[in-house]
Amino acid sequence: MRLDVITIFPEYLEPLRHALLGKAIEKGILEVGVHNLRDWATDVHKSVDDTPYGGGPGMVMKPTVWGPALDDVAEGKSVGWQLDSAQPHVDKPRRDDLTGRSFEGYEGEAGDKPLLIVPTPAGRPFTQEMARRWSNEDHIVFACGRYEGIDQRVVEDAANRYRVEEVSIGDYVLIGGEVAVLVMAEAITRLIPGVLGNASSHEEDSFSDGLLEGPSYTKPREWRGLEVPDVLLSGNHKLVEEWRREQSLQRTRERRPDLLRQE
Ligand code: ADE
Repeated sequence: MRLDVITIFPEYLEPLRHALLGKAIEKGILEVGVHNLRDWATDVHKSVDDTPYGGGPGMVMKPTVWGPALDDVAEGKSVGWQLDSAQPHVDKPRRDDLTGRSFEGYEGEAGDKPLLIVPTPAGRPFTQEMARRWSNEDHIVFACGRYEGIDQRVVEDAANRYRVEEVSIGDYVLIGGEVAVLVMAEAITRLIPGVLGNASSHEEDSFSDGLLEGPSYTKPREWRGLEVPDVLLSGNHKLVEEWRREQSLQRTRERRPDLLRQE
């Protein structure tokens, strides 16, 4: 998979080089290009925004800068700042890598048309289901808006050529789309086969069966006077499964009753 991010703060995307994503870059499963929107600004001040029509506070990002930037990045005419992995990992497989599946190639959904994702608090809510679907894409372009957003015609125009999704990561307002891209990129890429060492570790994630994941425990058996639940030491897989399911349901009822009503 290739991810391209267009932003006025390229350094914000540096964390994508680290940890699991850095490892995916190193394995050749993932490529990440970061592009500075100002490279497409044409005036001496390199301005990317202007006052909104109709008045009001804040600034709106200009279509005349975003249009050419998106076209160049979507068509692969700009490679941008190609992120490399922050640290070498391949010589040191983690314990869960040893049981992992290997990378089996891409199964993109729409040929050579990239998926364009525009993070905005006014978008559709990002979900695990979207992350799962988009983990099959070959090429995703993220367009990070700042200020009061991007001139809406940029999205309208792009929709004539690409598949476009305006997406929110939650009911709160960030300063811009960069952090939302970090969130979505991590949620999407961890589901690409070969990125997580142990494939079954995401099959049991919260949300993958519509419920929150229950609590987990490791050694020691007793810590600061707190015991690991007996059932987990019983060796009875059926009982353990039943207990985990009940814990999941209980947690979901308490914390996210809306998830149960959706079923
Ligand atoms: N940009 C600003 N706030 C955002 C949010 N909640 N989700 C996605 N992009 C954003």
